[in-house]
Amino acid sequence: MKSALVGCGRIAKTHAEVLAQMPGVEVIACVDTVRDRASGMANSFKAAVYTDYQQMLCRERPDVVHLCTPHHLHVDMAIAALERGVHVLMEKPAAITPESFDRLLLAQEHSAAAIGVCFQNRYNATTRHLANRLASGELGKVLGARCVVTWQRGADYYADEWHGRAATEGGGVLINQAIHSIDLLVHLLGPASTVQASMHNRHLQGLIEVEDTLEAYLEFDSRPVLFYASLAYCVDAPVMLEVICERATCVLQGEQLSIHHHNDGSSEIVHNAKMGSSGKTYWGTGHKLCIEDYYMALAQERLFPITPRDIKSTMDLVFACYQSAQSGKKVSLN
Ligand SMILES: NC(=O)c1ccc[n+]([C@@H]2O[C@H](COP(=O)([O-])OP(=O)(O)OC[C@H]3O[C@@H](n4cnc5c(N)ncnc54)[C@H](O)[C@@H]3O)[C@@H](O)[C@H]2O)c1
Repeated sequence: MKSALVGCGRIAKTHAEVLAQMPGVEVIACVDTVRDRASGMANSFKAAVYTDYQQMLCRERPDVVHLCTPHHLHVDMAIAALERGVHVLMEKPAAITPESFDRLLLAQEHSAAAIGVCFQNRYNATTRHLANRLASGELGKVLGARCVVTWQRGADYYADEWHGRAATEGGGVLINQAIHSIDLLVHLLGPASTVQASMHNRHLQGLIEVEDTLEAYLEFDSRPVLFYASLAYCVDAPVMLEVICERATCVLQGEQLSIHHHNDGSSEIVHNAKMGSSGKTYWGTGHKLCIEDYYMALAQERLFPITPRDIKSTMDLVFACYQSAQSGKKVSLN
C-alpha cells in the first residue's frame, strides 16, 4: 500500500508512527502548506514533499490518503480522493456543516474506494468491553447516562490560523474535543431522539468565535443523558462517561472501565493498553488499533466499521446540539 500523509501537524505524527511500524505500508508523500512540516515528516520515510494536495494526488497516485488537516478542508479533500478511487482515512470531524456532510455521504456512495473516520476511542478495550456487556442484556436495560469532558485550552492553543474560528474549526469544544464522547454515547446507546443544549464562551471571550463550553440534556429513546463539555478547566481531566443500567453502574473514566453490580456489590475493572507513542493521553490509545484495522479491512476486502455512513447519527447529534444552542429550542432527531 502506498500512503500519503496530508497535513503534517500534531496528530499526523501519531499516524506517521503507526504507519512506520506497519509491514506492507509505504509512506510515499507528505503534504503540508508549510513546506518544513511536510519535509520534517517526509525525511524518515524518504517520501516526496508537497505543499499542494491536488498536485500530490495527480503525480503520486497513492492508494490511501490520511487527512490530518484543519476541519474545513476534510470534506473537499476526501471527495477529491474518493473521485479518483483513492482510499481515505480522515481525522474527525468528518464535516463541519450538515450540507458538507451530505456531500461526503454522497461521495462515499458513488466511490468504490474505502473511507474511514478516526473515532479511535471505539477501539479502546474499555469501550469494546462495555459495548459487549450492554449488548448482551446481562446488565438490564439502560436507564440513563452522563458524560463530562473538562479540559484546558488557552489562548496559545488558538494562536494558529484555524482553531477558534467558526469558518475553519466549525465550532469549539463540541465539534473538536467532545465529539469523541458524543460518538461513544451514540455507539453505546444508539441514536439520540431529542436535544436541548446551550453553549457559552466563558474564558476566551474576544479571542475566539466558538464555544468553550456546551451542555446538553439529551434523550435517547426517552432515557435521559446529561452532557457537559468545557475547555475552561485547569487540567485535561480524564473524560467520564457513566451508564446506569437496571442491574449495574458502568463508568468509563480515562483509561479505565468499572462495572459495579448492584445485586452483590462486586466490581469488574478493565484497563486500556498503553499506546507507547507521542500521542497525548487524552486523545485515547486507540489510534494504533483504528489505523491498523483500517488497513486490515482494505487487505481483507471487508468493510471498515467507521465510515461517514456509520457515523451519521453522531454527526446529526452534533449538528442538532448546535442548532438547539443557537435557537434556544428543543430539537428532535428523526
Ligand atoms: N482523533 C483525535 O483524537 C485527534 C486528535 C488531535 C487532532 N485531531 C484532528 O486532526 C486534524 C488536525 O489537527 P492537528 O491538531 O494535527 O492540527 P495542526 O494545526 O497541528 O495540523 C494541521 C496541519 O495541516 C496543515 N494544513 C493546513 N492547510 C493545509 C492544506 N490545504 N493542505 C495540506 N496541509 C494543510 C497545517 O499547516 C498543519 O501543519 C483535525 O481535524 C483535528 O480535529 C484528531
